[in-house]
Amino acid sequence: MKQYTFPEGFLWGSAASAPQTEGASQKDGKAKSIWDYWYETEAERFYENIGPEITSDFYHCYEQDIQRMKNIHLNSFRTSISWSRLLPDGTNVNQKAVEFYNRVIDTLLNQGIKPIINLFHFDMPMHLQEKGGWENREVVDAFAFYARTAFELFGDRVTLWTTFNEPIVPVEMGYLNHFHYPCVVDMKRAVTVAYHSILASAKAIRNYRELNRDGQIGIILNLTPSYPRSQDKEDVRAAEIADLFFNRSFLDPSVLGEYPSALIELLDEHQLLPHREKGDKELLRHNVVDFLGVNYYQPRRVKKKESAGSSQEGIMPEDFFDPYIWPERRMNPYRGWEIYEKGLYDIAVNIKQNYGNIPWYVAENGMGVANEERFMDQTGTIQDNYRIEFYEEHLKWLHQAIEEGSNCFGYHVWTFMDNWSWLNAYKNRYGFYRVNLKDRERILKKSGNWFKQVIDQNGLIVED
Ligand code: BG6
Repeated sequence: MKQYTFPEGFLWGSAASAPQTEGASQKDGKAKSIWDYWYETEAERFYENIGPEITSDFYHCYEQDIQRMKNIHLNSFRTSISWSRLLPDGTNVNQKAVEFYNRVIDTLLNQGIKPIINLFHFDMPMHLQEKGGWENREVVDAFAFYARTAFELFGDRVTLWTTFNEPIVPVEMGYLNHFHYPCVVDMKRAVTVAYHSILASAKAIRNYRELNRDGQIGIILNLTPSYPRSQDKEDVRAAEIADLFFNRSFLDPSVLGEYPSALIELLDEHQLLPHREKGDKELLRHNVVDFLGVNYYQPRRVKKKESAGSSQEGIMPEDFFDPYIWPERRMNPYRGWEIYEKGLYDIAVNIKQNYGNIPWYVAENGMGVANEERFMDQTGTIQDNYRIEFYEEHLKWLHQAIEEGSNCFGYHVWTFMDNWSWLNAYKNRYGFYRVNLKDRERILKKSGNWFKQVIDQNGLIVED
């Protein structure tokens, strides 16, 4: 048997978000987010017409759910606050929301589960989207106000905060593709959205530091290591550009306090630079994160541009490279994502070598599988061996990175219980607990028990 022991005090837990778990989307004074609005107006865009109204009903079941977390020995849990629940009109605090988040935080703490609280998980309040969302610079200040409000209300107990989860996703899905509202396809506008998101993150960090709370603040990024097809100069260049657009556009300003000059040059060359104001550079330079959360699901493989032409919508990131299908790739066929465990190690090495070995944790890693009821045994337990294997292989690479000095302090899976997904609703299930859609009953899967053992051992003990 081989033992993979993780550092003392390692955070073992899971991640979630308000819009994907809370439900009660129109209850107790919550205003509409873009998701509520979009579902109301175009329900057919949602998988099986299932929208965000109920999701996994955490709003009502949080107490039992936190007990379930405790049952499998999680020592930490990340979720988000819903901006449109806390500040329905952008200014006045909704007391019902304060009570709810207080109860969630206090219950977690009473159970010995460390809360990590995120502020933005793709859920722009609709009244701000109507003003242009992240395209409008006023929204940057609206976010800073919301962040300060949350720190003031909950910062006495929450000591780990993050400003954004995967801020590149609203850019990619909502402004480069029509997969998220507002379904715009325009790279210039996408760049502005990205730029304002990073300014918003920096302003929130500044507010947090001004309050002198005893805690730390970070950002959660989905880092997709970019691998070139070959070492050919043009393939390597294609991978560098993909890395600039999809990783370094948020990683560098968040951790190093400035954008890579290669990205600025590239955007400038194509007249894509956003409007900047005096003081922006200083704001970014002085408000870098204390730690990073890294969501890792899949790598990005690219080759030099071989296919013809640009899209009708003008220049797009894909004009600089083509996707490359590695003949040896293994896929999660349900989600259509490549499984490449070593990518996690490569991320750790990159953070160590190029980002000052900043403290970081795996903020999401997981495997969504459709029709999991196929794997249910006579006792009703889903035998999700594929998920256990997925986690084990990632943990081995993570362990190696830590052995080599990577400053990783935790591993959070996506996710604790099946939850609602933006595009796929409940098609692909990720949870340690199955959520039965008829009555929202939760049933522990085999992987939940497996994780409990991992936590008890503070690592893996597996056959050599
Ligand atoms: C991450 C997000 O990108 O991946 C989550 O932070 C999301 O919100 C998760 O649910 C899994 O992706 P999906 O699209 O299968 O739900």
